[in-house]
Amino acid sequence: MGEIGTYYELLRLAHDALKPRRYLEIGVHKGHSLALLRAGTHAVGVDPEPMVENPPGNAMIVSATSDDFFGDPDLQALLEGPLDLAFVDGLHLFEQALRDVANVERHSSPDGIILIHDCLPIDAVTSAREQTTMVWSGDVWKVVVALRRHREDLTVTTVDVEPTGLAIVSGLDPDNTVLFDRYEAIVDELADLCYDDLQALGRDEALNVVDAHPETVRALLTTGRVKTA
Ligand SMILES: C[S@@+](CC[C@H](N)C(=O)[O-])C[C@H]1O[C@@H](n2cnc3c(N)ncnc32)[C@H](O)[C@@H]1O
Repeated sequence: MGEIGTYYELLRLAHDALKPRRYLEIGVHKGHSLALLRAGTHAVGVDPEPMVENPPGNAMIVSATSDDFFGDPDLQALLEGPLDLAFVDGLHLFEQALRDVANVERHSSPDGIILIHDCLPIDAVTSAREQTTMVWSGDVWKVVVALRRHREDLTVTTVDVEPTGLAIVSGLDPDNTVLFDRYEAIVDELADLCYDDLQALGRDEALNVVDAHPETVRALLTTGRVKTA
């Protein structure tokens, strides 16, 4: 079997492999990733400017920022229980994506999986904090650095899918408050880190990058470990 090409293909594989009961997507845009939902999954999509014309029947779209969503118990009740799968693809700035991941983990099942889009930057321009190009990952990759430094209990792996990678996070602990407790310190620590620093650190090592083999990805999704022969 060939490699997984795009992040959409990886998302489809995740839905098929995990068959999540409950799914949250932060950043739905036109609904292309939300369309990969399975029929039996209860789903909530959060976006301040959703442009989804025909959402899947089992998906609820909330017009709000992720911070507003997580700040409102009535909106969070729409999740109807702990999340089995979440996809973080909202604002592409690392401090926002870090807050999204921390809030999603709080609502996740310990067996749940968080997928984070745009964690494998391709150059300095498309990973700048200001968007000037169509493909724009921003500096979301710093979330992977933050999780690997401050949450060694998590398994965090970046899969090399087009166009800008996707990180798989497992071993979740909804009661862990480290990301909230250290939030300001982590943002200070990583604020000045740029694409060239990542290259100097060794991008693939720093972001724990793996090739997009379906077997590798399935193992990461279901056991949190890269399968070895
Ligand atoms: C790259 S698009 C999402 C693409 C979609 N997930 C897909 O793959 O088809 C990013 C989306 O994040 C939304 N967004 C921006 N700021 C946000 C925030 N603070 N909270 C949630 N979503 C946000 C934007 O409105 C935009 O629709």
